[in-house]
Amino acid sequence: MNDTRIEEIMAELSLEDKASLCSGQGSWNTKAIKKTGIPELLMTDGPHGVRKVREDIDEPGIKDSYKATCYPTASGLAASWNTELVNEVGFALGQEAKEMDVNILLGPGANIKRSPLGGRNFEYFSEDPYLSGKLAAAYIKGVQSQGVGTSLKHFVANNQEFRRMTINAEIPERALREIYLKSFEIAVKEASPWTLMSAYNKVNGKYCSEHPRLLTEILREEWGFEGIVISDWGAVNDRVDGLKAGLELEMPGSHGIRDKEIVSAVKNNKLSEEVLDKAVRRLLKIIFKAENHESLVADKAQVSNYNELAYKAATESMVLLKNEDLLPLNNQKKIAVIGEMAKNLRRQGQGSSQVNPRELDSFFDIFKNNFTEDTEITYDKGYCLDCVEPVEEVSLDKAKDYYHLLDEAKENAANSDVAIIFAGLTEDFEAEGQDRDNLSIPENQEVLIYEIASVQPNTIVVLTNGAPVEIPWKDKVSAILEGYLGGQSAARAISDIINGKVNPSGKLAETFPETIEDTPSFINFPGERDRVLYGEDIFVGYRYYDKKEIEPAYPFGYGLSYTSFRYDNLNIYQHSKNDIDARDLSEIIAEISFTITNTGARAGSEVTQLYISAENSQVRRPIKELKGFDKVKLEPGESKEISFNITADDLAYYEPEIANWLTEPGDYQVLIGSSSDDIRLRDEINIASPITPGVSIRPEYHQNSTIGDIYQDPEAWEVLQEEISDNPKLKRFVSFDNAEMDIGIPNFLEYLPLRNLITFTEGNFTSKDIDRIVDKLNKS
Ligand code: BGC
Repeated sequence: MNDTRIEEIMAELSLEDKASLCSGQGSWNTKAIKKTGIPELLMTDGPHGVRKVREDIDEPGIKDSYKATCYPTASGLAASWNTELVNEVGFALGQEAKEMDVNILLGPGANIKRSPLGGRNFEYFSEDPYLSGKLAAAYIKGVQSQGVGTSLKHFVANNQEFRRMTINAEIPERALREIYLKSFEIAVKEASPWTLMSAYNKVNGKYCSEHPRLLTEILREEWGFEGIVISDWGAVNDRVDGLKAGLELEMPGSHGIRDKEIVSAVKNNKLSEEVLDKAVRRLLKIIFKAENHESLVADKAQVSNYNELAYKAATESMVLLKNEDLLPLNNQKKIAVIGEMAKNLRRQGQGSSQVNPRELDSFFDIFKNNFTEDTEITYDKGYCLDCVEPVEEVSLDKAKDYYHLLDEAKENAANSDVAIIFAGLTEDFEAEGQDRDNLSIPENQEVLIYEIASVQPNTIVVLTNGAPVEIPWKDKVSAILEGYLGGQSAARAISDIINGKVNPSGKLAETFPETIEDTPSFINFPGERDRVLYGEDIFVGYRYYDKKEIEPAYPFGYGLSYTSFRYDNLNIYQHSKNDIDARDLSEIIAEISFTITNTGARAGSEVTQLYISAENSQVRRPIKELKGFDKVKLEPGESKEISFNITADDLAYYEPEIANWLTEPGDYQVLIGSSSDDIRLRDEINIASPITPGVSIRPEYHQNSTIGDIYQDPEAWEVLQEEISDNPKLKRFVSFDNAEMDIGIPNFLEYLPLRNLITFTEGNFTSKDIDRIVDKLNKS
């Protein structure tokens, strides 16, 4: 749709028409205006499947949607660390949405996992903004390549369910920029989502749906977003303020009530019609883009079998946490499968993302088919799924049942070669609208694991859950597979990993803590009354565990394989200082490469990870931060070269004083790891002078500037050096090499304000001389 046509339509629309376009028609559509040929748009949830609500029944509930492919939820997809795979899933979702006449798929979710207790963590990718942003971008590009729009959600800091619609997230500026916004920034800049969904909560005192700084200054003016902002369902507080701040579409519709508020605000001069016009022009652009979707479709073959893609995604979404030479299974004659979840596998979480799967596979049936009749496979329920309360709180009948199930399973396990226990969180634990209270799995499952492990040394635990759980029994069992919420083909994926048909390749996109007390937000989560303080600041996820030297149960980036990999030949080519533009953060600072070799006997995939460590920063920095990753498949003995570019942006932090990103001069460690806790190669790069796209970052000098501050600024330091060399008294004390004063007190000179030079020059320097030097420094 060209701009002239949009202007023609604008001219035909009344004030009332324009206001009406700013809210939905019911729950899932935008409004059509037939007289001007404006069609309606259909939106449905996402993110891990198309949840198109059935129109053929009255008052459909959350589960009443048409059948659609159910992929692993975002926490599983993220564990694949595979942008190509996520892009492929996005592509298939786009195709399926199109088949169902859906114009906009409401996903992906790019919120950061601040606490493992967050009720919707299963819908989000990671605790790390780089990984989350890259995966969200891959997903968006996939869906939108099919002419179907996405809605990147929930913008921003929607990190808990407790009082989700009114909570005020109080977030320090650096954390907001470096952690919570960063994930969205990457996705917006790389993938241009058609729409973005504003979150329910407030950020630093203002509702996200009426936050001009977030919706206009940052999103549009800084990041260049050109789509529309849609409110999360029911997230509008003040419609007129929302429109002014940059919220184009209110969802669901308000039966015309808020449209009238817009009209009267214009009539009463409380809202300029230009603001409304701007919003309507943007809406029309997206509405017509969706209508013309066929012309946008990228040329790529049709996904022939959604189920196969769901299976492939599931195999990569699972993480092998422990394996003491037990997996893959091989020649065992008697296998005890235990746990009701083996038959009733969890595939997804509860809430608006819940898909009605096209088909569901059965672990038991698939698993059995992999063995000959010589192998006996038994099943014991082990626990009852509905009894999630502690045993002392249940009725006598239930308690009897509990012990009966346990004893039966134990006996079978003891008489087998291996026991496979299915455990994890049941449906009630992970749901939109409700955070978890603790990190435990139900007590009856935990007791079962201890009991089985006490009689069967070859015990494997398969976990299904969408977020970390405590694993206090990890030393008691031989193998643990984190299956996440693997979607409709999860059972086959689990079976094939256990049997070795598939070599596991997932790695954790989030830290698994030992206990809830160890987690970064423990003291402040989920907040009090209507406020939650993000007291851990930028130290979220592994940034916190690293800094506090707290050993988690399993670190970020961790996951085992049935083969092993060697890393070597790290090469760094650093660009010279003169080639680097001090105002451009996208400048490539260094190109690095290294070799990775599969040293085992099986083909396998390894996720290599690049972290950067700012060694001598003037501000608090994490010990390391993820800035690159690559998943590579290798045959036994095969080697491949991996390369990454490091840009100034990868080294930058957000400096609130200059309201901009800043790459400081100094040394940076380049770390190549197999996980955040397993760094295999390291080397250093150096930045000679500051890089920032912002205003001049030269500080203003004054009489209380310290010698150390001046030492940090090469030009100013040169000026001071000249002054000092001209003064024999001063020269005696000062060593120019390291800004230290030789009077036997460490850091004395570094922390000495300029005004104190008077003391050390025995009256040679007056206050006026210092003023003169300050002036010279400011002009240097
Ligand atoms: C959720 C969104 C969802 C919307 C529509 C809201 O409650 O927060 O993620 O897209 O409902 O179902």
